[in-house]
Amino acid sequence: MNSPLRIALIGAGNMGQQHYRHLQTLSEATLCAVADPGPQAVGLAAEWGVRHFVDHRQMLELVRPDAVIVANPNNQHVSTALDCLAAGVPVLLEKPVGVHLDEVRELVAAVKRSGVPVLVGHHRRHNPLIVRAHELVQSGALGRLITVTALFQLRKPDSYFEIPWRREPGAGMLLTNLIHDLDLLRHLCGEVRSVQAITDNSVRGFANEDSAAVLLQFEGGTLGTLNGSDAVAAPWSWELDSGENPVYPRQADQPCYLLAGTAGALSIPQLKRWHYAADQVDAGWHKPLLMVEESYSGDDALCLQLQHFVRVARREVEPLVSAADAARTLALVEAIREAAATGRACTPALIEA
Ligand SMILES: NC(=O)c1ccc[n+]([C@@H]2O[C@H](COP(=O)([O-])OP(=O)(O)OC[C@H]3O[C@@H](n4cnc5c(N)ncnc54)[C@H](O)[C@@H]3O)[C@@H](O)[C@H]2O)c1
Repeated sequence: MNSPLRIALIGAGNMGQQHYRHLQTLSEATLCAVADPGPQAVGLAAEWGVRHFVDHRQMLELVRPDAVIVANPNNQHVSTALDCLAAGVPVLLEKPVGVHLDEVRELVAAVKRSGVPVLVGHHRRHNPLIVRAHELVQSGALGRLITVTALFQLRKPDSYFEIPWRREPGAGMLLTNLIHDLDLLRHLCGEVRSVQAITDNSVRGFANEDSAAVLLQFEGGTLGTLNGSDAVAAPWSWELDSGENPVYPRQADQPCYLLAGTAGALSIPQLKRWHYAADQVDAGWHKPLLMVEESYSGDDALCLQLQHFVRVARREVEPLVSAADAARTLALVEAIREAAATGRACTPALIEA
């Protein structure tokens, strides 16, 4: 029997504390240190019974953890992960993997060079609901996937924007929120060949977009739209519909992703699958469309991600979302930004594994 994996936490804010709560439920891992220069971190480390460090490099040197969770601000992700790789320590790195593709390429190269694994925190992929949806698409139950419609339609309260970085260039809905939807679209529908996009900031007038309309053409031929706004009083988003995070009152009846293929269609998160009877003659819009609710066994995606990370750190499995994989999602975000700025169709940059 392995002794518990000693995991250090770098960044003990909102997300770091969520990781800590899940870590507490696992027998196969234990928290060994906290590195965070913020004012609340000393007290948290004391409450959690571990050593506190202001500087993660000092923590790596003195504590020598078996693995780390990095949940500090986005613009520090790559440099922090590089320090961990240099110390030979596997990383669960919160999303986004970085803020610019150039720095992320450096990280991808360092992972390859060092052989030390990095798992990126696109946790929705660990959600059993998404695992089932992926299986259904892969099984051919929908036939050839022709269209996908994705919605991120909700309202963030004005107080959300009182924190200065959330109003500044580089933050914003695309990198903070739509990156999750785009990662799932890649996961479910394949790589994206080309995007077109329009963004708008006319509701709040900040540097970042309030709304975005994105057209996607996937390599397999699927066509998609992602319609996003964080300034609308609406119920259509993974956040509100999936029930994954209880801080958002749930709109369980509302879909956020609609996948349609030649043989069937699927709504997410309801997992309602629509199809014609196998013996239906001349199947089409005059004939009854049948619906089945696909079953799956629900579980907490963040907890499953952490269990997976323990196995990644022990080199038992490859990361479900590697740095190179997450870099492709970031490349997609960058292509959307470029498409919105230029009015042209853009192709996401190629990322070698
Ligand atoms: N997976 C998800 O769904 C999800 C949700 C929310 C946030 N996140 C990600 O988690 C990360 C943190 O977001 P948050 O909402 O917890 O932010 P936060 O502001 O609540 O926490 C960030 C923490 O990092 C600390 N910090 C700052 N500089 C540091 C440094 N040099 N070393 C160590 N710690 C440092 C801050 O003191 C703070 O405690 C972000 O990358 C964000 O994108 C992911």
